Amino acid sequence: MDKRIKQTFFKYIKPYKKFAFFSILSNVLYALFSTLAFVVFVPLLNILFEKEKQETVVKPAWDGFMHLKDYLNNYLNYHWVNFINEHGYMTALSFIMIVAAVIVLLKNVFNYLAMFFMTFLRNGVLKDMRNDMYEKVISLPVSFFSEKRKGDVITRMTSDVREVQWASLIVLDIIVKEPLTILFTVLAMLMLNVKLTLFIFVFTPVAGYIISLIGKKLKRASHVVRKLNSNFLSHIEETLTGLKIIKAFNAEDLFEHKFKNLTSAMYKATNRLINRQNLAHPVSEFLGVMVIITILWYGGHMVLIDKTLSPAAFITFISLAYNVLTPAKAIAKAGYTIRKGMASVERIFTILDAKNPLIDKPNAIVKNSFDKNIELDHVSFRYEDDNVVKNVSFTVKKGETLALVGQSGSGKSTIANLLMRFYDVNEGAIKIDDIDIRDMTKKSLRGLMGLVTQDSILFNDTVRNNIALGKPDASMDEIIQAAKIANAHDFIMELPKGYDTNIGDSGNRLSGGQKQRLNIARAILKNPPVLILDEATSALDTESEKLVQDALDRLMTNRTSVVIAHRLSTIKNADKIVVMHKGEIVEMGTHQELMQHEGVYHNLIMLQSFA
Ligand SMILES: Nc1ncnc2c1ncn2[C@@H]1O[C@H](COP(=O)(O)OP(=O)(O)OP(=O)(O)O)[C@@H](O)[C@H]1O
Ligand SMILES: [Mg+2]
Repeated sequence: MDKRIKQTFFKYIKPYKKFAFFSILSNVLYALFSTLAFVVFVPLLNILFEKEKQETVVKPAWDGFMHLKDYLNNYLNYHWVNFINEHGYMTALSFIMIVAAVIVLLKNVFNYLAMFFMTFLRNGVLKDMRNDMYEKVISLPVSFFSEKRKGDVITRMTSDVREVQWASLIVLDIIVKEPLTILFTVLAMLMLNVKLTLFIFVFTPVAGYIISLIGKKLKRASHVVRKLNSNFLSHIEETLTGLKIIKAFNAEDLFEHKFKNLTSAMYKATNRLINRQNLAHPVSEFLGVMVIITILWYGGHMVLIDKTLSPAAFITFISLAYNVLTPAKAIAKAGYTIRKGMASVERIFTILDAKNPLIDKPNAIVKNSFDKNIELDHVSFRYEDDNVVKNVSFTVKKGETLALVGQSGSGKSTIANLLMRFYDVNEGAIKIDDIDIRDMTKKSLRGLMGLVTQDSILFNDTVRNNIALGKPDASMDEIIQAAKIANAHDFIMELPKGYDTNIGDSGNRLSGGQKQRLNIARAILKNPPVLILDEATSALDTESEKLVQDALDRLMTNRTSVVIAHRLSTIKNADKIVVMHKGEIVEMGTHQELMQHEGVYHNLIMLQSFA
């Protein structure tokens, strides 16, 4: 495990270390009692085989640690035989039964407790990790999430986190529970008989490995069948999408013939495969029983001929050996889950460890008012290799409206992104009242700005909450007022629940113009000193175009605005028009001036549907 991952892993476990401790403790006790649950039956079996009767039992004498095992054995035996002699077989039997019941009860209680404490740990880590990731995601700059990474981020926050949760549970199991179960069981086996234990531990893994190899080989899915299956699916898909053409060209027979060839090939291949797979289980079982028979033969020999093992001990021994299988299998399987978990951990940490390039300076200015102007001073910017904004300079005075025009892809929306500081400029500077926006806190900068984006962005929530996004404590009156100015009030009132209507995923239940007006209402309610407006290009019908336009006009009065404009009316009324071409400013002036100049702007107006 990578050191960094380990550290962070412990960081997440730390708040829940109390649960981890109790879970581990419970697991230790569980492992202990699950072994005892087998051992406790030795005296019972001894009673059934009436072993004690024949033995003359003397109280053992202590003769050093070398004979500790024999001493303990004899000591217990001595007391046990005395107990039987005193109370009779049935009482002894009942006694064992009660002890066994208590041990099995305790084993299961501790098993539950281990899982109980673990649940808080697992779900707590899951919760904290998700919260941290969300916090990180929402603080990372927009640039981190270009379209193609969205799905990826979602997978990391959902399935990867769950994968880690699974793996971490299994890690604790295979660190504590399974090894301890094996350890205790093996200790008990050694106490019963060393020779047989060694025999089992050399013979079984080798045999088990061979059996699992054979099983896997037989089970392995055939590539042929998979290939045929995918051909089969594409043929169906092709048929359904091309149905018109198949019929129009009378090609039904041809396609049917192809399909029958495919199905008969699949028939043969799957028969072969399935019959082979079906062999896996009987073969494994037969070989498994062969292993057990060998052990029974070996142990039986010890019981009957060598007389080095009592029948009771032998039966207990076999149960113990079986008891090792489950944890051993679990450990073998855990490798895969853990490897998958580690891959997920890596993927999660690429987000959690991502550096945020847009961090506020330590002594960043909190700017709460806008007094003079906004200035772009020789600004250049590139998303990737090529500059999409080149050496752009302009100033917007307080109260003015500046219109940015230019063909698609000329860098207009990019300038809006830079003003909001979604990205930092590569050269030059953007200043508000002569302060570089990189010296302000992002929060206060964005507090001064109202943004209406090119594509309306709405959230799956009520109309009211969508409008109140920038001012959550707004009163209902304020919200209605904003909606009225945005020409949205009327259509909102027609919605089934008015302002409390849920507008569905990204406002799916609204028309394009309605969505825009909600976006405008949102900006109106926030009432920022500076407005950045990226006019939507989507064609609206004249009616809603007029409604949106009115809303925008009202929004812009008495405010400083930078408008990316497509509508002639907005452009005409602007105090200054900046004409962009391929990231550069090619012309600047008022509508009148630029029309007289008869340059790019004149051409744009003449050529495009503005007029
Ligand atoms: N996130 C991005 N990553 C890389 N390149 C981008 C990104 N966003 C925009 N671009 C590129 O930057 C250039 C300017 O894009 P921008 O969105 O600023 O154009 P625009 O003037 O707003 O166009 P439109 O009028 O169509 O909205 C385009 O060539 C575009 O492909
Ligand atoms: Mg744009």
